[in-house]
Amino acid sequence: MTKAIGIDAGGTLTKLAYLNDQHEIQLKHFPSNDLPAILDWIQQQEDIEEIGLTGGRTGQIKAMLDSDKSIHYIVEFEATLKGVRYQLAKEDHQFEKSIITNVGTGTSIHYMDDTEHKRVGGTGVGGGTLIGLAALTTGIKDYKEILQLAKDGNRQDIDLLVEEIFQGIETPVELKPSLTASNFGKVGIKESAKYESADILATVQGLVGEVITTLSIQLAEQMDVEHIIYIGTTLDQNDKLREIIADYTILKKKTPVFLEDHGFSGAIGALMNIMD
Ligand SMILES: Nc1ncnc2c1ncn2[C@@H]1O[C@H](COP(=O)(O)OP(=O)(O)OP(=O)(O)O)[C@@H](O)[C@H]1O
Ligand SMILES: [Mg+2]
Repeated sequence: MTKAIGIDAGGTLTKLAYLNDQHEIQLKHFPSNDLPAILDWIQQQEDIEEIGLTGGRTGQIKAMLDSDKSIHYIVEFEATLKGVRYQLAKEDHQFEKSIITNVGTGTSIHYMDDTEHKRVGGTGVGGGTLIGLAALTTGIKDYKEILQLAKDGNRQDIDLLVEEIFQGIETPVELKPSLTASNFGKVGIKESAKYESADILATVQGLVGEVITTLSIQLAEQMDVEHIIYIGTTLDQNDKLREIIADYTILKKKTPVFLEDHGFSGAIGALMNIMD
């Protein structure tokens, strides 16, 4: 008995949020490229009357839906914020203002307070970069395998740390010696016999995590905000990436926040939008 669903059709994954008979939110995702699977699932839910739609791939979903369904489009950024506000309330978080970093295929960064919200930045480095660079550098395309190897890998022969740059002189006080001075920076200046896939993948993940966090911190400083809410399916089932992001955020004296259902803010927001 699914009467309404929210769909966030993203560059990589299409996320769905709907209510079950007990009025609890259920969540599901499909690869955005697998349109037949998405359509099949929707058609199996006989009672759907209303569909909330958002995300960059909205057009391709809209084109295949039956015309008897009522479609409510909402821009991605609005849907995401609606979803985030709902998730924050549900998980008992209360912030006067925050930065929201959505690590999707690419990364989009927003500012939000009680009265306004706006996009404040972003970077092309995101979950798509993790998959793309993983495939190019190691040939591994299976997402689960990438995560597993990245978790066990070691970055020490590939990344160049601050303490390795400053040799024989004091490290400047504003720089922590153990921070990355150059992602992949050691490869060009120090020969190594062979790089293991796990080590390369751990370093790719480090690069992605550190770029996203650096930008988020700078924007939080600029907007005078303490809390940075990191969302996006890229964070899902990836403790290591969340650890990289959290450690660096805390080091820079900001507070990282992770929501339970990382990737579903847009889909939840699209569903909420129907019910408003
Ligand atoms: N099962 C999975 N298959 C593929 N990618 C996955 C999977 N689980 C997590 N990911 C990661 O999540 C990323 C996509 O995140 P998300 O769903 O938030 O982005 P999107 O909404 O599709 O993209 P965008 O918002 O940029 O249009 C992928 O790039 C990948 O790193
Ligand atoms: Mg998205």
